[in-house]
Amino acid sequence: MSDRSIRFTHAITRAPGASVTAGLRAVDTGMPDLALMQRHHAQYVACLRETGAEVIELPALEQFPDALFVEDTALCLPEGAVVMRPGAPTRLGEAAQMAPHLEALYDQVLWIKGPGTIEAGDILTTEREILVGRSARTDALGIAELADLVAPWGYRLREVITPPGVLHFKTDCALLDPETILSTARLADSGCFAGYKLINTAPGEEAAANVIRFNDRVLMPAGFPQTAERLAAAGFDVHLIGNSECAKLDGGMSCLSLRFSPPR
Ligand code: GLY
Repeated sequence: MSDRSIRFTHAITRAPGASVTAGLRAVDTGMPDLALMQRHHAQYVACLRETGAEVIELPALEQFPDALFVEDTALCLPEGAVVMRPGAPTRLGEAAQMAPHLEALYDQVLWIKGPGTIEAGDILTTEREILVGRSARTDALGIAELADLVAPWGYRLREVITPPGVLHFKTDCALLDPETILSTARLADSGCFAGYKLINTAPGEEAAANVIRFNDRVLMPAGFPQTAERLAAAGFDVHLIGNSECAKLDGGMSCLSLRFSPPR
């Protein structure tokens, strides 16, 4: 089996700006501390870069407070990239800001044109399929449009459900290797991962589910020792990254980068 769902030559990140304090959040758990977030972000970028990948660091976009969460703007596959159409009105313009950076690396950059919406935080790409969670940000029309765009590249897309009250599908799950998924119990209980090996987050550590497998590493938010131990015991090379400030904006490890291997 190939492992292109976990091995990447490139990543794109975007620095948090001062406007991040106005970022979207489901519940107010305190104002993000920009300086601490910048330190965590630098730790995250360094961890990606240490795997040998090229990390393209984009400058902050002050007019878009959530723009550091670049993952939501695009789906990057080996064949091409698809620019998303975010469902949060304040985030809609972020996608067009990302497009030129993808066009510099890919021959094929397609766009979700609407009227549906879709954010790539709701998309989990595995070796065998693309799972898309319908959520408050991602609707049936957006999913259908994505399915049509990626079908010529040979991808099978499966619609699943993001748990109620959860921001994105990948808030609650992550691909650890081509066969193994880390998931919260509330998402795994839906049965959507039948056929995969599963590791559940430890009870009370649901926020640990949003990790990324990036080359030989698993980047994981600090503060979830039982889940970290489960991953280490399963043989994964776990790297803990501070995430306290992004967590105040419902952001995590996957949200902070686009990870891909462009064809040229
Ligand atoms: N604050 C991240 C989001 O709501 O999209």
